[in-house]
Amino acid sequence: MTVADAQRRVDERLAKMRPLSREAAPPIPRDLVPPGSRLPFLIQTFLIFRYRHRFIPWLHRRYGDVFTVRMAPAGRTLVMLRRPEHIKEVFAGDPHEFHAGEGNGILGPVMGEHSLLLTDGDQHQRARKLLMPAFNGAALRRYQSLVSEIARREAGSWTDAGSISALRRMNAVTLEVILQVVFGVTDEERLARLRPRVTGTVDIRPWMLLGWVYPQLQRIRPWRSFTDNMVALDALLYDEIAERREVSDLDGRDDVLSRLLQVGVDEAGDTPPLTDHELRDQLVTLLLAGHETTASALSWTLFELGRDADIRRRAHQAADEGDDGYLEALLKEAMRLHPVIPMVNRVLKQPQRIAGRDLPIGTIVTPSIILAHDNPDSFPEPDRFRPERFLDGQVPANAWIPFGGGVRRCIGAGFSLMEGVAVLREVLTRWDLESTGSPKPRTRNITSIPADGAPLTVRRRH
Ligand code: HEM
Repeated sequence: MTVADAQRRVDERLAKMRPLSREAAPPIPRDLVPPGSRLPFLIQTFLIFRYRHRFIPWLHRRYGDVFTVRMAPAGRTLVMLRRPEHIKEVFAGDPHEFHAGEGNGILGPVMGEHSLLLTDGDQHQRARKLLMPAFNGAALRRYQSLVSEIARREAGSWTDAGSISALRRMNAVTLEVILQVVFGVTDEERLARLRPRVTGTVDIRPWMLLGWVYPQLQRIRPWRSFTDNMVALDALLYDEIAERREVSDLDGRDDVLSRLLQVGVDEAGDTPPLTDHELRDQLVTLLLAGHETTASALSWTLFELGRDADIRRRAHQAADEGDDGYLEALLKEAMRLHPVIPMVNRVLKQPQRIAGRDLPIGTIVTPSIILAHDNPDSFPEPDRFRPERFLDGQVPANAWIPFGGGVRRCIGAGFSLMEGVAVLREVLTRWDLESTGSPKPRTRNITSIPADGAPLTVRRRH
């Protein structure tokens, strides 16, 4: 595809995908929702973006298990939930009445109108059905050897007694996994062209959103540069899709795009295969949803390993003996203690009774991952890093929700755990780790990351 064609498509997308539709989620009068902060909504929005780890627990201490938050634009109304039984009511809700896509509309200008994250109802159901086969157990097993190879290369490049930023290194690994295992690009020259475009696209700072709300900003930097980069990425992706459609060995390729291209008309004949535009939107969605999230989860895991010698000993043994269950428990406990995504949203399309309250259309019901994971009723001694919780089988349903839940549960959950276990195995069989940083979190783009990048000293194991 020419750059001019890609530019035209991006312009169309920007004109069509207005983020944060006010009509979908209008502000709800105070007397119709549970109590909450009376701070102006712009200040609440800032506090949630910037200081969510302190602000949300503070709201919980002050207002209890169910409270209201107001956010931009115009004070849209979020009712936050913490208890498993309330969260269950949301995840079990009819997806036609609990819209997740609308709640994620903020990312529309990048992800596009077909994105699995942004669609609802029948459109979402169709896309999910077409994407699922690329994320089932059999598909994940096919991706495993390339993921392990990428992780091995990374772990093999560290130097004895050297200092690394776990976050930076894990970002590099998960970027390669997206490019090679999701997009299926392994040619070095193509990878070199894609890498900067992909890195530029995932770097969505809060002020970038202004350029989508006020299109006139698109004419100046930095908004213009972001859009130019998106045009260049789209042109590369459309070319990749077109070429891949022509290859003769699609069936033998172990990557997500090649799997998606093989999804055809279903038995009933009512699900046409994915078009080029849909594929582009889904690839960018997988990139944005799967790259920094998994890197952050992994860097928190390495950080926690690096500060507890007993758990590290057990982890080394698990890696040596191929005990993937323990490695997975490490990841799960790190995601519990350091939630990568703070919350998930559903916009009510019908009045609903949730947590014993009657809530009107347009209310956004919001399971808080931060609060659910910090609940001592679900996780005794919630401040302790204790992977065994996930081996004892004692975690109640709807209490551990890093991947959301219900029909909208993260489609890449199994993928990211497979990837995480492979990376931990390759790292731990070679390296002893010592954390030299702090557990302070910071928000980058949509994820919570270690504020200092989780510095580690690595020593070769004997
Ligand atoms: C530790 C890593 C990850 C975390 C913490 C995470 C978290 C989440 C969360 C919270 C949601 C929203 C769920 C809901 O609304 O109930 C989600 C959705 C999604 N995630 Fe992930 N994710 C991770 C990795 C991945 C990976 C590796 C991919 C793909 C390669 C991916 C692709 C998606 C997609 C496409 C959706 C939308 C699903 C839908 O709406 O049907 N995620 N993820």
